[in-house]
Amino acid sequence: MLRYDMGEGELRNWVIGEDSFNVRYLAKYEAIMSLGNGYMGVRACTEESYPQETRNCFVAGTFNRSGASEVTELPNIADVTELGIWLDGEGFHLEKGNIEEYSRTLNLQTAELNRRVIWRNDRGNRFEMVFRRFVSLHNKHLLGMRAELTPCTAAAEISIRSGINGQVTNSGAQHFAEGDKRIYDKKMIQYAAATTESNIHVVTHCHHRCLVDDAEVAAEPRLSIERRKVSLEYTFQVEAGQTLVFEKIANIHTSLDLEHRQQEAAKLCEVSLDELRLEATKGYGELLQDSAKAWREKWAALDIKIKGMQEFDQLAIRFAQYHLVIMAPAHDNRFGIAAKGLTGEGYKGHSFWDTEIFIQPYFLFTDPGMARNLVEYRYHTLDGARRKAKENGYRGAMYPWESALTGDEVTPEWGPVDVVTGTPTRIWTGLIEQHITSDVAYGVWQYYLATGDQLFMDTKGYEIIMETATFWASRLTWNDARKCFEIKDVIGPDEYKEHVDNNAYTNYMAHWNLQTAIACYEKLQHAPSGMWIQLRNRLQLDKAYEEWQQKAENIYLPRPRETDLVIPQDDTYLGKKLIDLTKYRNQQEVALILEDYNMDQVNDIQVSKQADVMVLLYLLEHYFSYEVKQANWRYYEPKTLHDSSLSMATHSILASDLGEPELAYRLFGLAAGIDLGRNMKSSDQGIHTASIGGIWKCVVFGFGGVRAPGGQLRIQPRLPEAWDSLSFPLYWQGDLLKIDITHDAVQVAKLTDLNASLRLSIDGQNYSLESKESITVSLNTGKR
Ligand code: BGC
Repeated sequence: MLRYDMGEGELRNWVIGEDSFNVRYLAKYEAIMSLGNGYMGVRACTEESYPQETRNCFVAGTFNRSGASEVTELPNIADVTELGIWLDGEGFHLEKGNIEEYSRTLNLQTAELNRRVIWRNDRGNRFEMVFRRFVSLHNKHLLGMRAELTPCTAAAEISIRSGINGQVTNSGAQHFAEGDKRIYDKKMIQYAAATTESNIHVVTHCHHRCLVDDAEVAAEPRLSIERRKVSLEYTFQVEAGQTLVFEKIANIHTSLDLEHRQQEAAKLCEVSLDELRLEATKGYGELLQDSAKAWREKWAALDIKIKGMQEFDQLAIRFAQYHLVIMAPAHDNRFGIAAKGLTGEGYKGHSFWDTEIFIQPYFLFTDPGMARNLVEYRYHTLDGARRKAKENGYRGAMYPWESALTGDEVTPEWGPVDVVTGTPTRIWTGLIEQHITSDVAYGVWQYYLATGDQLFMDTKGYEIIMETATFWASRLTWNDARKCFEIKDVIGPDEYKEHVDNNAYTNYMAHWNLQTAIACYEKLQHAPSGMWIQLRNRLQLDKAYEEWQQKAENIYLPRPRETDLVIPQDDTYLGKKLIDLTKYRNQQEVALILEDYNMDQVNDIQVSKQADVMVLLYLLEHYFSYEVKQANWRYYEPKTLHDSSLSMATHSILASDLGEPELAYRLFGLAAGIDLGRNMKSSDQGIHTASIGGIWKCVVFGFGGVRAPGGQLRIQPRLPEAWDSLSFPLYWQGDLLKIDITHDAVQVAKLTDLNASLRLSIDGQNYSLESKESITVSLNTGKR
């Protein structure tokens, strides 16, 4: 069973764990207990192999296309985590014999995975086995493993087969050509292979060390080189009560790494071999300490404290922050964050609007350097977005719905089964889910507001905002009857409505995009710099500006209906049929409705997959009154199945905004439970990175009430009853703040003094904080 209470003392609320073994739930634990550092991600597969496992290791950015009918995806890298273990000649695995004790924990503080098993074989011999593993935060290329095997009742012959296995695929798709294989000194293995299409060289090494009762033993392993696989097999006679320790240290380098870009493949092998030779001398313990120290430093800067009745909440925010660290490629701004991070094959390692709307806010307010990487990633992919616009007959930059390395569209065309026709369902999002383009611009603008990074804007940010505005200007079509510009044939955030006209979210965000470009243009005209003049000429912005103005003034923005203040989600939603959704609202697994109806049928029902109008109300909050927000919540939420993990967090934040902290708290619990909850099938394909970002947003934006709509920081806390206090760090315009909130008061301390004074609003009043000052404001509780 998944446990939240396995951390004791200092480690209370720092540990997630399981206390029994069940092969049916392997995938869940593999995903939520994944290790990583933003460079690589390794699923928490057990050392011994099971047919039900999905053994994955990904390295950020190494995209490859395995065939003409496939889209590019993050390939599964050669595996180092599997250990074949034989005890007295019998292969060890937990589906036979008898498990006497079992526990597995992920310590979020040190990021070490630890499994302890006491197992009795069919002959009655007991063994105690401890398996430990980490991926280093100190050296991004490094992974360490340690197995401690003790025969308890009788001496035993223990054999361990360990190596590098390049036979892995992505659900059958092969991404690597056969590699070069070599064994050095009967200790060290090298496996070097290149991706089949993108020609990225990936070099993996591993090093072994064996000890009995703490003394290193010389071992004579059997060497084996097979097809795409190299391994060493060690055999030891171990007395009862003696412990055999087997350490395996591995590293991965690729030709994509910034430090290796100019190197030949042979040099890459040499450099990484030298690195591992050096690192391996430190042994598992020291290498783990290096990594744990890096984690401790991270936590010291990030720690959020929630005091209250439900300790799970504290664990949940730490779990979210742990995954936010391991999903983020802090080392390289060419790579995005994938919908499943580096924890599974789901969504093929592609990035979505999840990044800007759900994940980036976390980094903006806690690690602005990483937020900069994310906006720079979108700059690296701007040319791909330009290509997509051109291919589709538009101008400017049309960002891909699913994005990999280049910004070209990589959404697959075909998806899961259509229950009516029995054929795969056509996926339209890559063609017509176009709001991603304004979401990217929105992300850039939020980055600017929160950091004031003028250099980024001058060199990259303005270009993104203006090119995306130009896309919208070319995308709009004139409706003579309505006398306005429309956006026809799109999918909005609610993917249960395909080929709709004037999705409210899409239209408003396009309008916002055009207006923001207009405002930037006007500001830059007043104080022209050399860079601006160049950009203006290169993109012919004087002409574009006129077009933006004309289009922005006349774009159709669906207004709240006079009768009930409901904003039509699109031109036809409110006229579609209503059905009883109870069965689907009470479902255990998501998307149950698609087992009863196909997409064409779902299209005709007033049912939403996820927050749609709600996201609009939250992102452009100043456009809409409290009454409009409330009316739309009442209308749309009961029709929403929350079949996307993105939905719950948005609803929780809006509930906070609507002054309903208890509802917000209930929804926060559901959002936190998407990966960390006891639905043992929810994360098989990988964790949900947007939902993980959403957990932080519920806490800081929802209950903490932090927002900065027009560029001024606002704090309007609304703690739920279950919490006594909440405190968190927050970066704003380069300064670090510490916010402490109780039901009665909020304290804001300015810990740095980059800016002489900071203007902000707390509970509706304006304040100015001078250098390293702290202010406490009593809360007017019960106020809306
Ligand atoms: C959701 C999208 C999301 C994608 C990746 C889909 O199921 O509907 O909004 O971007 O998953 O997380």
